[in-house]
Amino acid sequence: MQKGMGRRWVFVSVWIVCMFLLTATGFAAHGEKRAPKKAILLAAFGTSVPEAQKAFKDIDAQVKKAFPGVEVRWGYTSRIIRAKLAKQGQVLSSPESALAKLMDDGYNRVAVLSLQTIPGEEFHLLDRNALLFGQMAGGFDKIVVARPLLSSHEDMEQAAKAMLKNIPAQRKPGEAVLLLGHGSGKHPADAIYLAMYQIFQELDPNVYLATVEGYPTLDYVIPKLKAKQIKKVYLMPFMAVAGDHARNDMAGDEPDSWKSVLTKDGFKCEAVLKGTGEYPNIVDIWIAHLRTAFDHL
Ligand code: CO
Repeated sequence: MQKGMGRRWVFVSVWIVCMFLLTATGFAAHGEKRAPKKAILLAAFGTSVPEAQKAFKDIDAQVKKAFPGVEVRWGYTSRIIRAKLAKQGQVLSSPESALAKLMDDGYNRVAVLSLQTIPGEEFHLLDRNALLFGQMAGGFDKIVVARPLLSSHEDMEQAAKAMLKNIPAQRKPGEAVLLLGHGSGKHPADAIYLAMYQIFQELDPNVYLATVEGYPTLDYVIPKLKAKQIKKVYLMPFMAVAGDHARNDMAGDEPDSWKSVLTKDGFKCEAVLKGTGEYPNIVDIWIAHLRTAFDHL
């Protein structure tokens, strides 16, 4: 091959490569390669109890403080709660409609924090739908779902130690504390509550945990309280909000509430109507999970 001809071939090759790159970047421009615009979506079950909404306000403030200048939106998973509040004039988004709105508003990178306690059914539904939003044509460039509160043994120990600090100061060591978890009887993650029971017991043998819809149950705990001749029991919710379960199933006046059952069994009861979302040391754990997700955007 002649020297001149070789140079011509190099020329042609470079020209072909340049044209290809131009076309490729042209396509990219068509697909709108956008500057990152990040947002946070907080997802919770929701509550129809106005006083219980304080937990969401507290979480909102703590998240905004941890992520200054970042857009923070909310989505509520319970259709029933959304319908109930809509009748009272309070229109709330589902996580899906909140995500669609973020998309319309030009946000392209979203971190979703599930304010559930365990990675149960509700969390997995949210996770699935969030990932589908990430697959939509023209959708988000990236969407990452943060883990719920209790997602590792480390989380469980941190949450248990934090909860012990949240017990009312006037409680004496001989008095019991019974935490009310939600429970998820049909989901394998329900086992986390029994693990938490064990962790609480190791940290303080007079702190117990039972659930309303899973295991352990109140019936599991009562014989243990009797065996120790406990006189007084503090009842505390172990869920983000002190809503219907806390106010009715735990502290209500109905004969089957925990307070009524325990009082009938001779225990003195004192209920603390505060959700875990109202304790900054618990919200810190959720925020750490959100930070991990946000850093991946
Ligand atoms: Co429930």
